[in-house]
Amino acid sequence: MARPHIEFVQTQNVEWHDQPDGTRIKLLNCDPQDGEETYLIRYPAGFDRADLGLEDRAEEYFVLDGAITIGGLERGYHAYGFTPRGESAGPRASAAGATLIVFRYGRSDPNSVTGVSEAMAVDALNAPWDMRASDAQIAHLRLTRKVLRLGPNDSSRTFLLLGLPHGMPAQAEMPAEIHDHFEEMFMLQGEMWTPEGLIRPGAYFYRPPEIVHGPHVSVGGFFQIMRAGANYVRTTWTDPMPLPIGQAYAPKVPQGTPPGWTRAYEAPAPY
Ligand SMILES: [Fe+2]
Repeated sequence: MARPHIEFVQTQNVEWHDQPDGTRIKLLNCDPQDGEETYLIRYPAGFDRADLGLEDRAEEYFVLDGAITIGGLERGYHAYGFTPRGESAGPRASAAGATLIVFRYGRSDPNSVTGVSEAMAVDALNAPWDMRASDAQIAHLRLTRKVLRLGPNDSSRTFLLLGLPHGMPAQAEMPAEIHDHFEEMFMLQGEMWTPEGLIRPGAYFYRPPEIVHGPHVSVGGFFQIMRAGANYVRTTWTDPMPLPIGQAYAPKVPQGTPPGWTRAYEAPAPY
């Protein structure tokens, strides 16, 4: 069973669920068979937990706020880490609390198991930006990246993606994209117009392979964490389509999605 297409929800509309260990999670997308899933997790202040032993699925995390000690390493704002399946992440504790986005890989995924993948800890704040130009078709977004992890055997890429404000093409139409791999995104800052509406901070999507998506433009600029199912994005371009500026919210969600997840979201007033 594959993970379902969800594009997109504002995670402010998703309810926290209390866990027995005192954490709270928002499960955003999952494959119940293989255990691949993505969730937000909030560790309360004073959290302290012993090592749980070997991971049954690789865990990849990115700290959104607060600070947490994992395996003896203090992880703060925008710290990134990866623990392969079959290794232990160690005990974790948080004095002041922390919120993380977590990506769990599948139990049978051959590329995220110990011996094939290595444990990693990256302080994204100090990682270099890759400012090389991207595909000419999306040059208007003026994209810059920080690559956090490249999965072995061309299996995945996890990266931060930044687009400058005023990211609009000169023409009124542009092609949409198709990839032969998945894409997944959580919006950290900014905004982006899509055919599904205006993505704002806290937005999330998981897009399986072969889904036509875009075009995308960003008046205000954006900063997001993304995953893709390949080391480098492979794109087929469609015929030109109208730009989605002003598009009403029109999410694509799997059957059974709670109706509240797609209610209108009102961003806080900026001033
Ligand atoms: Fe794409």
